[in-house]
Amino acid sequence: MASRYPSAWLDELRSRSDLVQTVSGYVALKKNGRRWWGLCPFHGEKTASFSVDEEAQLYYCFGCKAGGNVITFLMEMDHLTFNEAVEQLAERAHMPLPQMIQDEDYERRRTQRERLLNANREAARFFHETLFTPAGAASLDYLRKRGLSDGVIRKFGLGAAPEGWDTLTKHLLEKGFSLEELQLAGLTVIKEAVPATADAPARPRRAFDMFRNRAIFPIIDAYGNVLAFGGRILGKGEPKYLNTSDTPVFNKRKGVFAANLLRKERHLDRVILVEGYMDVVSLTQFGVKGVCATLGTALTNEQARLLKRYAPQVFLSYDGDAAGQHAILRGLDILKEEGVPARVLDFPDGLDPDEFIRRDGPEGFAKLKSVTPETYRIRRLKDSLDLSGQEGKVSFARQAVAIVAPLEPVEREGYLKEIMIQTGFSRDVLQAQLAEELQKLGRAVPKPPARRRVDPAEAVGVVPTGETEGREAAGAGRKKLSEAEWKVLRAQEMLLGLLATGRLPEDLAQEEDFEDPELKLIYQDLKRGEKPSSLVDRAPDGESRSRLTRLLLSPAAGSTDELMAMAHDCVARIRHGRYEKKLKEIEARLTNCNDEAEQLGLLAEYQSVSDALRKME
Ligand code: UTP
Ligand code: MN
Repeated sequence: MASRYPSAWLDELRSRSDLVQTVSGYVALKKNGRRWWGLCPFHGEKTASFSVDEEAQLYYCFGCKAGGNVITFLMEMDHLTFNEAVEQLAERAHMPLPQMIQDEDYERRRTQRERLLNANREAARFFHETLFTPAGAASLDYLRKRGLSDGVIRKFGLGAAPEGWDTLTKHLLEKGFSLEELQLAGLTVIKEAVPATADAPARPRRAFDMFRNRAIFPIIDAYGNVLAFGGRILGKGEPKYLNTSDTPVFNKRKGVFAANLLRKERHLDRVILVEGYMDVVSLTQFGVKGVCATLGTALTNEQARLLKRYAPQVFLSYDGDAAGQHAILRGLDILKEEGVPARVLDFPDGLDPDEFIRRDGPEGFAKLKSVTPETYRIRRLKDSLDLSGQEGKVSFARQAVAIVAPLEPVEREGYLKEIMIQTGFSRDVLQAQLAEELQKLGRAVPKPPARRRVDPAEAVGVVPTGETEGREAAGAGRKKLSEAEWKVLRAQEMLLGLLATGRLPEDLAQEEDFEDPELKLIYQDLKRGEKPSSLVDRAPDGESRSRLTRLLLSPAAGSTDELMAMAHDCVARIRHGRYEKKLKEIEARLTNCNDEAEQLGLLAEYQSVSDALRKME
C-alpha cells in the first residue's frame, strides 16, 4: 500500500507507535519467550496462536496467517484505509501530519500497479459523470427502469460507457496514461495493424474501448481502489455482463463486489453473499446491510477467508433457480472448509434476491428465515427424490442421516425427528443407521476444518515456513522446486530473517546470494537500511504481506553470536547450492563445446568453482 506521506516521516511514526501497546488495546497479550502471544482477533480460536514480535515490530498469526505492522493492524482491526490508520497513529503519537508528496519525481517513481489503479479511478469517474450527460442517458434510463434510485446509483458510483468507439481511451490518453497501461488495465482493446492485401487496403493499429454502450458497475476493494468493472448490456444480448478479465490489479477469485461498503459497516452479525451486481445494489437500496457478491464465479476459498473478516457468519443468498441451488451446495462446502459458519436464504419460486425484494418488499425479505446448511441440504435432497415409494424413502433416510451425522447429538435431534416424519422409519432404525455413519466418519472422513496451525511452542524456528506451505518458491514464480533447490530457498529466507534484525554485518551476504527476484528485492531494501516493519507496507495484498511478515519475524536465537553462527550456516548452504549448480552448468556446456579455446576456459572456470566448493567443505 503506497502512501503519499514522506517515508522518513512514516518511519518515525512507526517507531513512535509501539505495536505491543497498540495490539494490547484489542487483545490480551502475554509474553512467552521472545514474543508476545494472544488469541487472534482475526479468526476465532481457543489457544493463542497470534504473536507480536516486539523487536521486528511485526505481528503474525500462526493459525490464520494474518500478518503485518502497526499500520496494517489498525487497518484490519478497524477496517481503515492506509491513510486513515496513519492519521490515527499520528494523533496518538502527537505527530503533526506532514505535507503530502506530490512532485513530478514522485509521479514517475510510482509503480505500475498504482498507475493502473489511477487509470481505473479516472475511468470510474468518467463513467459516473457520463451517466448524467446525454451520452449516458440510455444507461441512466435503464438503471432507473430497473428501479434504482439516484441515491443508490451514487452510492455505488454506477456509470455509463458511451456508445462511441474510443471515448474513454481518448480521455485517459489525454490524462497522461499510455495505451499500454490502458490495455493492461483492461480498459482498452488494441487491434493490431493489418497490411494491405490484393483485395483489401491496409488497416492501421486501432485502439477502442472495452466497455461501450453499457451500464457500468465499478468493483472497488476495501481500501477504495477501483479494481475492475462490470458492464451490463442495456437490454437483451450477449454477454449480459462484460467483466474486466484478470489484470495486474484484479483477480476475480480474490475479491468481492461491494467490499468497499462492507468495510464501512460496523458490528455486522452476518454478511449476505449474493450472485449478482444487481442483487447487491437492489438489496442495499432497500436498506439491507452487509451485502456483497462474488464476481461471476463460484465462491472461492480466498473469498471465504475474506468474508470471515467482516462478520461471524455468512448467509448464502443465491438465486432460487437450479444453478443457484447447485452453487449454494458448493458454497457451503467451501465455507465449511474455511471454518466459516454459514446459513442459507432460500428464495421461493426461483427468484433472485433482487426480484424477491421487489416483489415482497423489505418486510418480506426481513421475514424470510435463514436455514442451517443441514436443513438446506435435506431440502434439496428431498426435492431430488420421490418419497412416495419405499426406494425413495430409504435413499432419503440414508443420505439425510449422513448429512446430520457430523453434528452434536443435541443439534441432530430435530433433524432426526423430521426424517422420522418424512419416512416413517422408527427412531431405532435411524439410530442404527446413524451408528454406521458415525463409524464411517470416525474411520475415513478427515476432521472438519483443521486449520493449518503451528503450535506456538514449536514456532521458535527462524522462519516457520516449509511444513505449512508446500514446496513453493516465495517469489512470484511459485514453481515446484527440487529438494536441493528447496533447501537453498529456505536458507535464503532464513538469512533474510536474520539480516532483518539489523544486528549482523552488512557484508555477510551479497546480492547474488538471493536468486528469487522477490527475495533479492527484500535484501536490497534491508541493505539500504529499511526496517522490516516499513517493508511490510509495500506488499500489494494480504497474502504477500503475510508471506513477507513471516519472513521478517525475529529469529528465536538470542545473542548476536548465535545469530552470526546461523547466518554463516545459511550463507554456506546457499553458496554450496550455487556452486554445485554452477558446476553442473559448466559440465553441460563442456559436453556441447567443440571449440578448444572455449573448452580450456570452461575447464579453468570449473577448477576455480570446485576449489571454492572444496574450501567450504
Ligand atoms: P444473473 O444472470 O443471475 O444476472 O448472473 P443478474 O445479477 O440477475 O442480472 P440482471 O438482474 O439480469 O441484470 C449473476 C451474475 O453472474 C455474472 C454477473 O456477476 C452477474 O451479476 N454474470 C452473468 C457475468 O459475469 N456475465 C454474464 O454474462 C452473466
Ligand atoms: Mn437479476
